[in-house]
Amino acid sequence: MAANTFGEHFRVTTFGESHGPAIGGVIDGCPAGLRLDVAAVQSALDRRRPGQSALTTARKESDRVEFLSGLYEGQTTGTPLAFLLRNEDARPQDYDAMKSAYRPSHADFTYDARYGLRDPRGGGRASARETACRVVAGAVAEQLLAHLPVRITAYVERVAAVALNAPPRLYERTAVDATPVRCPDEDVAAQMNAAILEAARQGDSLGGAVVVVAEGVPAGWGSPVFDKLQAQLAAALWSLPAVKFMEIGSGMDGTFATGSAHNDAFTTDSSGQITTASNRSGGIQGGISNGMPIVIRLGFKPTATIQHPQQSVTPAGEATVLEAKGRHDPCVLPRAVPIVEAMVALTLVDAWLAPPARLDQLRR
Ligand SMILES: Cc1cc2nc3c(=O)[nH]c(=O)nc-3n(C[C@H](O)[C@H](O)[C@H](O)COP(=O)(O)O)c2cc1C
Repeated sequence: MAANTFGEHFRVTTFGESHGPAIGGVIDGCPAGLRLDVAAVQSALDRRRPGQSALTTARKESDRVEFLSGLYEGQTTGTPLAFLLRNEDARPQDYDAMKSAYRPSHADFTYDARYGLRDPRGGGRASARETACRVVAGAVAEQLLAHLPVRITAYVERVAAVALNAPPRLYERTAVDATPVRCPDEDVAAQMNAAILEAARQGDSLGGAVVVVAEGVPAGWGSPVFDKLQAQLAAALWSLPAVKFMEIGSGMDGTFATGSAHNDAFTTDSSGQITTASNRSGGIQGGISNGMPIVIRLGFKPTATIQHPQQSVTPAGEATVLEAKGRHDPCVLPRAVPIVEAMVALTLVDAWLAPPARLDQLRR
């Protein structure tokens, strides 16, 4: 039950439901002395906000972040950094149908199975509204990582069968945000856009894939065996709603190759630094970063709530037909991009703040 906290050293706890008065969080472990750029945190939230375009849910939330503690004269004090986002555009009556019928492939049935009761309004805690809190915490984490600098960018690589056929790389966020679908190729983005609008017109939904790349992560982050960096990233990213697959580096494709074709040969770069000639490992070996970009592909399913009558049952097990209302994302991918970046930032900052494992790096 106590499962609303992520991270060991930079620890974030989130709270709140989709249609309650507010959502928020507490970050414990943020080092003192960070001059927090609250406007940048707000910009991160604006990228996730509902109602940005015809591709997203029409719910209107201003999502103004209020920091309640842990800041003095613009700097973090090392004490808990608490923040709040008020829910403004809740329409709980839209969810009356979901009290008496389980939404197929949503969390209604399983929350009842675990807790014996649930808040049906907007999916309650299972709503992606909760991810706004991750974006706030992730934006704080990013500002810490910027000191190294580590840079993280995600983008939509595929919507249903419409794919950007280019090797994963770190794009500029401005290029990603140039299209509402958040694919950095304008032509492919236009096709994705059309596919989502057509699905929405039919009351249906689409899934797809997001790629996230983190550059600047030094070699040596991650703690085997149970806290391997990929295990922490998996915990972070698989905790996002609607995720259906994740792969690192060569991923599934790599499993078809031979070792001789797959291995990343070692070499040195122009400054004499040890590096690899290819990056099929996706930046992690043995659960520890190797200094190459971390490359992850993440698959999201089509949005569960669709505007079609669907076969379901009541909590008592009687057959019924669900006619869902409410405002929903016809495709979660465009809004998933900043959330994925946030979860990667939270994982990386936690790995960075872990105590050194070498005697020569321990402080006296
Ligand atoms: C950015 C984002 C937006 C989402 N919007 C919706 C939505 O509008 N309607 C919906 O039914 N599910 C939406 N979801 C997915 C549900 O929250 C998710 O499917 C549900 O909690 C069940 O969890 P599961 O799919 O991981 O099993 C969204 C997910 C993300 C990441």
